[in-house]
Amino acid sequence: MPYALRLSALVTFALGLGLVSGIVAGPPFTTLHLVFAVITVVLALVVLGPQLRRSFAAGLGAWFPLIPLVLGLLWYSGLATRLIGRAGFVVILIHAVFGIIAIGLIEMGIARARRTGALERAREL
Ligand code: HEM
Repeated sequence: MPYALRLSALVTFALGLGLVSGIVAGPPFTTLHLVFAVITVVLALVVLGPQLRRSFAAGLGAWFPLIPLVLGLLWYSGLATRLIGRAGFVVILIHAVFGIIAIGLIEMGIARARRTGALERAREL
C-alpha cells in the first residue's frame, strides 16, 4: 500500500508539474491529474492515518493533501473564478505550492512509518 501511495503521489505531482508549466494541457491530463489526486488523498488517509493517533502534527502527511484537493476542486468547479474573477488563477498557483508540500509530507510520513515499524519489529525480537 505505501508503494501505491508513492506511485499515485508521483504521478499526481508529474501531471501537476506538466499542467502548471504548460508542457501538457487539456482534458486527458486534467482528468488524469484529478483521478490520481483523489487516489493519493484516499491512500494518504488510509496509509498515514494511524500516525494521527500520536498527534495532529505527526499525521500531517495524512490530512495535508486535503488542502490542495479542496483548492483544486475550487478551481475545477469554477467557484474560484466566480468568487474572485480573473484572480482565480492565483488559487491554482497556491494549490500547486501546497501540492508540492503535500507530496513531500507524504514521503516523510512513509519514511516515518517505515522507521517506527522497524523499531517495533526490533523491540519484538
Ligand atoms: C496531493 C496533491 C494534489 C492534489 C490533491 C491535487 C488536486 C487537484 C485537483 C482536484 C484539481 C482540479 C482538477 C483538474 O483540473 O485536474 C487540480 C488542478 C490542478 N493542479 Fe493539482 N493536485 C495536487 C498536486 C499538484 C501539484 C504538485 C501541482 C503542480 C506542481 C498541481 C498543479 C495543478 C494545476 C496546474 C491544475 C489546473 C489544471 C487545469 O485545469 O488547467 N497540482 N489539482
